[in-house]
Amino acid sequence: MTTIKDSKLSVIGKDEVDWAQRQMQVLEDIKFDFKKRKPLDGLNIGACMHVTKETANLMLTLQSAGANVALCASNPLSTKDSVAAYLAESGVEVHAVHGVSNEDFFKHLNSVLDTKPDITMDDGADLVSLLHTDRVDLPIMGSMEETTTGVIRLKSMEKNSKLRFPVVAVNDSDTKHLFDNRFGTGQSAMDGVVRATDLLIAGLNVVVVGFGDCGKGVAERAYGMGAKVTVVEPNSVRALEALMHGYEVKTSINAAKIADIIVSVTGNMHALDKQHFDVMKDGVALANAGHFDVEINLGALKEHSSSVDRVRDHVESYKYNDKEILVLAEGRLVNLAAATGHPASVMDMSFANQALAAEWIKDNYKNLEPKVYTLPKEVDLKIAATKLGLMGGELEVLTEEQIKYLDSWEHGTS
Ligand SMILES: NC(=O)c1ccc[n+]([C@@H]2O[C@H](COP(=O)([O-])OP(=O)(O)OC[C@H]3O[C@@H](n4cnc5c(N)ncnc54)[C@H](O)[C@@H]3O)[C@@H](O)[C@H]2O)c1
Repeated sequence: MTTIKDSKLSVIGKDEVDWAQRQMQVLEDIKFDFKKRKPLDGLNIGACMHVTKETANLMLTLQSAGANVALCASNPLSTKDSVAAYLAESGVEVHAVHGVSNEDFFKHLNSVLDTKPDITMDDGADLVSLLHTDRVDLPIMGSMEETTTGVIRLKSMEKNSKLRFPVVAVNDSDTKHLFDNRFGTGQSAMDGVVRATDLLIAGLNVVVVGFGDCGKGVAERAYGMGAKVTVVEPNSVRALEALMHGYEVKTSINAAKIADIIVSVTGNMHALDKQHFDVMKDGVALANAGHFDVEINLGALKEHSSSVDRVRDHVESYKYNDKEILVLAEGRLVNLAAATGHPASVMDMSFANQALAAEWIKDNYKNLEPKVYTLPKEVDLKIAATKLGLMGGELEVLTEEQIKYLDSWEHGTS
């Protein structure tokens, strides 16, 4: 059984998925290997991910390994109905429709859990949360987590001894967060801002709130487009790093006063709140690229606005005192809601980690504790080496003598 918008959209979906596949050769290599070995034969995998053309390639890879795959959306606005239709036609049990209500969103999550998954996969820990509340009856081998916010939730569960099965923090693989969060979110978040507003970025004051992996990417892309970039960051090392990159570093209040565009990417709630709205310039545009739609306090903005009007796709205009504040993509992930998310080439590495993590859990779950794990370093190095080769890079090989030198402690000034 599936829940999709329209099965006729599968023709468009297939073209989309094939297009992404061209840029996902690391995952394709894994799929080729999985097809021969069938390492997940007969297992049920339940996934809660953004239903995009890139995710589709991951689902088909898991299917080629012999798994029965069920998929729901990790955000109601990121679902591509055409991709959902194609996946359903390909035998994946899909429960995802673009723009569904919160109630249906949770129904879809439960439908995936109704398939009794052996392994689950999350982007934001929503399935894991249900598995620790309403669905504690379901036995699970282990789970995988895609994003920083999900990993933070899981580590908190581990710390409080609440986690009941092992989870692989795929986000924490270097070949995930150093590339997907930085280059993927960086490019696609600015793409979302531009698609939503059509603004010329050059010469504008762009404020990036949060200078983690994602914030670094957003700041770099905005800077590259000619913006004057200001960073807001409470961690002194990261704030200093931003300063040495050539960005202004200010408190959130001082940054809010000068901003033309603000992109919040903290993973934290209310990074932009009433005290910031009060000092913002007329016409400022606010976007969120953090996982949940909690970074901009939309409740407070609405409460103190005299009107809210949709002025174009993905842009809402709030009349706030005597000025206008624009909110992009309803404060949800701007790169997925107003653009098409991370480019396939970078998701290739993230999803190579996901595919290999599923096999790693199947092989190791009996010896694992209910903790948050990262994949072994060799997996990271192998994925990076493959991607480097595919992108035309050459990897230096050390001589035996050099390896021995780096391993030794006897050598110093001669
Ligand atoms: N848009 C996407 O497609 C996408 C992709 C990957 C991750 N994410 C999400 O983006 C968010 C950030 O991810 P990350 O990997 O960069 O995390 P991170 O932990 O590396 O960085 C977050 C940064 O925000 C700072 N911060 C926290 N509260 C703040 C506040 N109130 N004001 C200013 N700065 C604050 C932290 O000190 C930290 O440096 C998470 O929610 C993550 O799940 C989104």
